[in-house]
Amino acid sequence: MEAGSSRAQPTIVVVGSLNVDQIAYTSRVPAAGETVMGDRYVMGFGGKGANQAVMARRLGARVEFVGALGDDVFADMSIDNMAGQGIDTRYIARVPGSSGVAPIWVEPDGTNRIIVVAGANDRVDPETAAGAIRALEAVEIVVGQLEIPQAATAAAFAAARERGAATVLNPAPAAPLEPALLAVTDWLIPNETEFEILVGEDDVGDSEDGDADRYRRFAGRTGTRLVVTLGGDGALLIAADGSTERIPATPVTPVDTTGAGDAFVGAFAYGLAAGLPELEAVRLGIALAGDSVTKPGTQSSFATPEQAAVLLGAILARI
Ligand code: RIB
Repeated sequence: MEAGSSRAQPTIVVVGSLNVDQIAYTSRVPAAGETVMGDRYVMGFGGKGANQAVMARRLGARVEFVGALGDDVFADMSIDNMAGQGIDTRYIARVPGSSGVAPIWVEPDGTNRIIVVAGANDRVDPETAAGAIRALEAVEIVVGQLEIPQAATAAAFAAARERGAATVLNPAPAAPLEPALLAVTDWLIPNETEFEILVGEDDVGDSEDGDADRYRRFAGRTGTRLVVTLGGDGALLIAADGSTERIPATPVTPVDTTGAGDAFVGAFAYGLAAGLPELEAVRLGIALAGDSVTKPGTQSSFATPEQAAVLLGAILARI
């Protein structure tokens, strides 16, 4: 497929969180009551919503962001960052109080531990979120996560459904889903841990028929399409006919996995919105996530627009 033969510039709306990430790189994380000396510190822009928006934008989507920031210095920095990436910020509310922040610890093998303090992200309003979706001229895909109130994401997704747009939910950080949100979700993209929280005690693990069957049963029972991300093992797609496709990860040596799941979701959403076959949209997600783990930071580890174009071109050449 030629690059120009997918939908020219799809519109993706991300309803979600904006954080400032405070990342400490350390040879080991402290035990309770212990202080350790870190190796390096980086402050950067994060928030699962913002990260996914940035990834979709770097691939060439028109991106609108619905969220909330506080009245602190982080808010101004975050708005400048989003606008600088070419993301429409008119639906980012400013509310009294702190913006979202995320202290993060990263160990030498690239694994991370994250504490999100939601701040203004908790104040995203359902009516405003739905109103933004209704007011837009065009929208192909609406993407959400679980760092803002589920009621706000549900309202936005319901408005998206009214407009015929598809909805993609990354249920992270792991939490049980409110039925109202699940009811308006087309695509679910959990990792394995998040999947276990979603499925609860309805279908416990280690069944003889393996995880793929559990994923398939969950997708059938909830009426959603499902992609489970498996870190270094790639991803598993439940196809529309119920068959499963396992897509391997790019073989790389990770230095920092922070934001890799968000790179996947943003790129997958772009792929769907651009009209790629869903398997290729998953491959695109894997390519951009695999690229991100080779570099430190969150959004700072994501492919530049030029690098993203090369990775997208390789997927399009397969079709
Ligand atoms: O997925 C990584 C992100 O989780 C970080 O950017 C942090 O802000 C938290 O939202």
